[in-house]
Amino acid sequence: MTNILIIYSTTDGHTRSICERLKQVVEGQGHSVEVAWMSDNQDIELQPFDKVIIGASIRYGKHQPQVFDFIKKNQTSLESKPSAFFSVNVVARKPEKNQPETNPYLQKFLKEIAWQPQNLAVFAGKIDYPRYGFVDKQMIRLIMWMTKGPTDPTATIEFTDWDKVEQFGLVISEM
Ligand SMILES: Cc1cc2nc3c(=O)[nH]c(=O)nc-3n(C[C@H](O)[C@H](O)[C@H](O)COP(=O)(O)O)c2cc1C
Repeated sequence: MTNILIIYSTTDGHTRSICERLKQVVEGQGHSVEVAWMSDNQDIELQPFDKVIIGASIRYGKHQPQVFDFIKKNQTSLESKPSAFFSVNVVARKPEKNQPETNPYLQKFLKEIAWQPQNLAVFAGKIDYPRYGFVDKQMIRLIMWMTKGPTDPTATIEFTDWDKVEQFGLVISEM
């Protein structure tokens, strides 16, 4: 049994839902899992954990600055144990962009950080138009229109492949 930290950055909570599903799977394999929100845990001590997983969502082309800060601050600790990173974005709804090697955000991110996670994943996120403010809603509709996605302002669409999330849970359990 190992003690695993899954720490995430989110704006609308979908990355947290993915972390909760990972926790279920990994605990089902007999490990102990703590899920923590990065915003509340920038100074969390990584030393007690055997493995660390970081998950982060994309907003307007970027992961949140706190993700870069967290990685920089914990670089040595992250490199000393098995680790993984996953990104959540809606570009990953496209089959040709849903792998770590083919997702532009993850590829760009890896060039911007010094840490090399042992395992990587990309999950398609969620569009929840009724939840967004006016400007965000129109911006996302425009992006969706340009990329042939859904534009109905009343729609909530979850693109996430939960089987893929569960598979990643097994990878985390075994790494
Ligand atoms: C204002 C806004 C901007 C976004 N920008 C992008 C983007 O540039 N590229 C992308 O692939 N997804 C983008 N998304 C989609 C999010 O990555 C997706 O909704 C994800 O599920 C959000 O995860 P979270 O709830 O954990 O923050 C955006 C979503 C919102 C609301």
